[in-house]
Amino acid sequence: MKHYSNLESLENFEATVDLALELKKNPFVFEELGKRKTIALVFFNNSLRTRLSTEKAARNLGMDVMVLNVSDSWNLEFGDGTVMNLDTAEHIKEATQVIAQYADIIAVRAFAGLKDKVADATEKVLNAFIKYAGVPIVNMESALSHPLQGLTDAVTIKETVTKKRPKVVLSWAPHPRALPHAVANSFVKSMKLCDVEFVITNPVGYDLDPKITKGITINHNQQEALKDADVVYVKNWSSFDDYGQVTNTDSHWMMTKEKLGHAIFMHCLPVRRNVVVEDAVLDSDQSVVIQQARNRTYAAQAVLKTLLENIT
Ligand code: CP
Repeated sequence: MKHYSNLESLENFEATVDLALELKKNPFVFEELGKRKTIALVFFNNSLRTRLSTEKAARNLGMDVMVLNVSDSWNLEFGDGTVMNLDTAEHIKEATQVIAQYADIIAVRAFAGLKDKVADATEKVLNAFIKYAGVPIVNMESALSHPLQGLTDAVTIKETVTKKRPKVVLSWAPHPRALPHAVANSFVKSMKLCDVEFVITNPVGYDLDPKITKGITINHNQQEALKDADVVYVKNWSSFDDYGQVTNTDSHWMMTKEKLGHAIFMHCLPVRRNVVVEDAVLDSDQSVVIQQARNRTYAAQAVLKTLLENIT
């Protein structure tokens, strides 16, 4: 694996899930691997879990860690041939190559703008780092995908659910803001790689990209979809058809204890209580969101270990 840009980057998804679970048991067993190696974590957007878990993962492997919030740096230009006499002070071509002088691996977070579907699909920021940096790049959530989260989610289901071929439901929930599709996209891809019965439920007008959901049952009736669920993964996303718009805030889609039944509850966090999911769910033993956040470290560690082995 040269870069971790998507779940498809992994040569063996199942083996990586197992590696993450092994690393959870013995986090420091490879602490020599990253000695005198540095990772730069570059953030174009906010983060709590991704920032801290990726840093912890790198430190568990013996790496040094640098963090750059792009908002504290120079305004970056991405256009080719631009006369840079306006607001941008540094071109992405120089910026990426300079960061790569200081880091053996670069991890990048750059969300979708949600204004232009075609522009977001180009993954401009992530692909610029891959094109110019010349070192391995890790996707810490891009316009279309959040593969560290998707890997974590498979790890969490594997360690939590003992039933063979459990029923997993991805349920849309209301949210006042327009949120990207990246987490949902990567969860769908992750579940396609697991031995589960997988169903997506969302309102009409909120179907995800059909290229990603191809072959998956989408049920617009939440109650029907949730029947006999073992795992319920709740997430909001903005409309894909009416790109980036919030056309539905129907609170009937909020996850409740009654709807959850006996299933375990998952969410990538952060989550808006009593908008996306009621308190009674998050405060119950059925919620595994804290365990899920903890597993971010070991999923990231499995990815970084694999990349480090290729550069040493
Ligand atoms: N789930 C997740 O990626 O959390 P952060 O946005 O806080 O990093």
